[in-house]
Amino acid sequence: MRIDIISVLPELLEGFINHSIVKRACDKKVAEIHLHSLRDYGKGNYMKIDDYAFGGGAGMVMMIEPIYNLINALKAERNYEEIIYTSPDGERFTQGEANRLSMLSSIIILCGHYKGVDHRVRQHLITKEISIGDYVLSGGELAAAIITDSVTRVLPGAISDETSALSDSFQDGLLSPPVYTRPPEFNGWTVPEVLISGNHKAIEQWNDEQSYERTSRLRPDLLQ
Ligand code: ADE
Repeated sequence: MRIDIISVLPELLEGFINHSIVKRACDKKVAEIHLHSLRDYGKGNYMKIDDYAFGGGAGMVMMIEPIYNLINALKAERNYEEIIYTSPDGERFTQGEANRLSMLSSIIILCGHYKGVDHRVRQHLITKEISIGDYVLSGGELAAAIITDSVTRVLPGAISDETSALSDSFQDGLLSPPVYTRPPEFNGWTVPEVLISGNHKAIEQWNDEQSYERTSRLRPDLLQ
């Protein structure tokens, strides 16, 4: 899968794509992530990418032309199934959406900045708006990182233990059961007996019960 991220501050994302599961997925050629600096498509000598809002008001607006030119340059090379704009106005991001996006072959993520983009970008160039939560970030880069991370980790082959991403919280609509590792006793605090029993059927049942109990206590909305 290929993800092209368009940003005013691509440096913010460099460290992120060069570490952890995202890097591993890229090394294994499961994912390809390309960062694009919008400034490279800016207008005039100053590579201008933003301007004052018509009608006044504080804050700068990202201009349509650099975004249009950059998206068109990418679209000339391949087909994109989704062109996403990160914005607090967007549809709330979920595991289901991460799974859906992971089945596409190429997507673009445009990171919002300043007061946002000229509305014509959203009307004519964007196919989907995604919010990562009801709060406002200074830029869409963190949202793009979150989308990229969650999409990449479910790509087949991204995680060495293939069942691992499938057993993440939310994959079956429930929170994950608690996990423990050695030592079985620390400071008098013990690991649940069943987990060291070697009885796989009993362990599976315990995990299911814990998932259900944690979900009903911590996130009852998920059971609705
Ligand atoms: N940009 C600013 N705030 C955001 C949010 N909550 N989700 C996605 N993009 C954003």
